[in-house]
Amino acid sequence: MPTRFEQYERARKVLPGGVNSSTRYNRALQTPFYASRAEAGYVWDIEGRKFIDMCCAHGAALLGHAHPAINEAVQKARELGYLSVFETTYHEELAAKVCDYIPCSERVRFCSSGSEATLHLIRACRAFTGRKKIIRIEGHFHGYHELIYIGGQPPVEAFPDNRRHPYIESAGIPPEFAELIVPIPFNDPESLEAAVSEHGADTALLILEPVNYNTGCILPDPGYLELARRLTAEAGIVLFFDEVQSAFKKSRGGAQEDFGIVPDVCTIGKSLGGGFPLSAFCGRAEIMDLYMPVGNVQHSGTFNAHLVPVLGGLAFLSEIAKPYFYPRLRELEARFHGGMDRIIEEAALNMLVPHHGARFDFLLGRKTPARRYEHTFCHDKKLMLKIYKACWERGVYFHDYGGPPCHHGYCIQHTDRDIDEVLNVLEDVLRGCREELAVG
Ligand SMILES: Cc1ncc(COP(=O)(O)O)c(C=O)c1O
Repeated sequence: MPTRFEQYERARKVLPGGVNSSTRYNRALQTPFYASRAEAGYVWDIEGRKFIDMCCAHGAALLGHAHPAINEAVQKARELGYLSVFETTYHEELAAKVCDYIPCSERVRFCSSGSEATLHLIRACRAFTGRKKIIRIEGHFHGYHELIYIGGQPPVEAFPDNRRHPYIESAGIPPEFAELIVPIPFNDPESLEAAVSEHGADTALLILEPVNYNTGCILPDPGYLELARRLTAEAGIVLFFDEVQSAFKKSRGGAQEDFGIVPDVCTIGKSLGGGFPLSAFCGRAEIMDLYMPVGNVQHSGTFNAHLVPVLGGLAFLSEIAKPYFYPRLRELEARFHGGMDRIIEEAALNMLVPHHGARFDFLLGRKTPARRYEHTFCHDKKLMLKIYKACWERGVYFHDYGGPPCHHGYCIQHTDRDIDEVLNVLEDVLRGCREELAVG
C-alpha cells in the first residue's frame, strides 16, 4: 500500500486536489485521509493504522460502519436485482415511516444528498408562495448550490457587510442570486421581525438549521423558534427547517420534536440511509403535492431513491425505533460530555464542547455558549488543526473542516472503552495546549 503522501501525489494527477469533495482535503494532515476500510466505530487508513472514528461520515454513520442491519439490507437489495429507477413497495413503506416519525411530514420525496434536498424544496416553496426571496440565518449551512450558498458563512473580513451585500461563498455563483438572499443573525428576534416586515411580501421561505451544528453547535434561544413559527405563519412565508444534520441525532422526530415547533417543511439526510446516500424533503401536503405529476413543480432523477439506500433507510429507521437505541445514545453523550467537562474544568481551558444529541462541536476561546455566528470568531482555527493532528497521531480521527468550529460525533456501535480512549487522548492533547487555551 502507498503512504498517504504517495497516494496524494498520484490522486492529484487525476482528481482536482486529490479528492472528490473539496473538504476531504484535510488541512490538519496536509493530505486527505485515505481510508482502506471501516467497521463499527473504527476506520483504517491506507497505511494500516486503526482509528476511533469521531467523524462518523459527517453524521451519516449514526449506526456506525457495516452495521449488521445495513449489511442485511444490502444483501436483500442484491437478491432483488437492485431495481434501479422503479418504485417498489419498499419506497412507500419508507415514506410512511418518515411521515410517522417526522412531525411536519404529510408527504415526502427522496433524493441522494442534503444539497439536492434543499434545492428541490426551495423550488416548491417558491412555487407555493409565488415569491422569490429567502430569509436565511448567518452561520447556518444548507448545501453548496447557487440558490443558498450565499451569505451563510462569510469570512470575518467580509462579515460586517454580509447583511447588506450577502457574501457569495463560491466563485462561479452569479451575483444576481445574492439579490434574493436576506441574511440575518441567529437568535436575534428584532432582526427577524425587521426582515419579515421589510421583505415579507416578497419572501418565499425562512430557512434555518434548528441546531446550528455547522457553526459551533449553537442552540436556538428559548422562544426563538416559536417566534419564527408565528411570524412566518402571519406573513405567509414557508417555515423551512433544514434537518439534514439534526434529524435522528437526539430523537426520532428530529429537532422539531426536540423543541416542539413544527415547521411547514423540512429536509432530512445524512444518517437516514444508514450510511448510503439518501436524503428527503417533506412537509405539508398542500406544498408537497405541488410536485409533478400532481402539480407543476419538477423533481425527477435517474438515481432518486435507489433501492440500496431505500432498504438502508428502512433498516436505519427500524433500528432507531428499538427500545435500546436512544437510551444508549444518551449514555454515550453523558459519558463523553461528563468527561469533557471535567477535563476543561481541571485544566482551566478556555473552550466549550456544545452538543445536541449525538453530535458536538469544539469551540475554542470562550466559556459561554455562542448565540450567533460572530460569537464564534474567537475560535482559533490553527490551534484547532493542531489539536486534530495530535489526536490523529494518537489514533483518534476528527475531521478537520479546515479548522472552524464544526461537528463531530459518535455512533451507536462505539463502546464505553472507545469513549474513554477518546477522552484520554483529548485530555493529553488539550493539556499540551494549556497555554494557548488559558482563560483570560
Ligand atoms: C444542515 C445541512 N444542510 C445541508 C447539508 C448538505 O448535505 P450534503 O453534504 O449531503 O449535500 C449539510 C451537510 O453538512 C448540512 O449539515
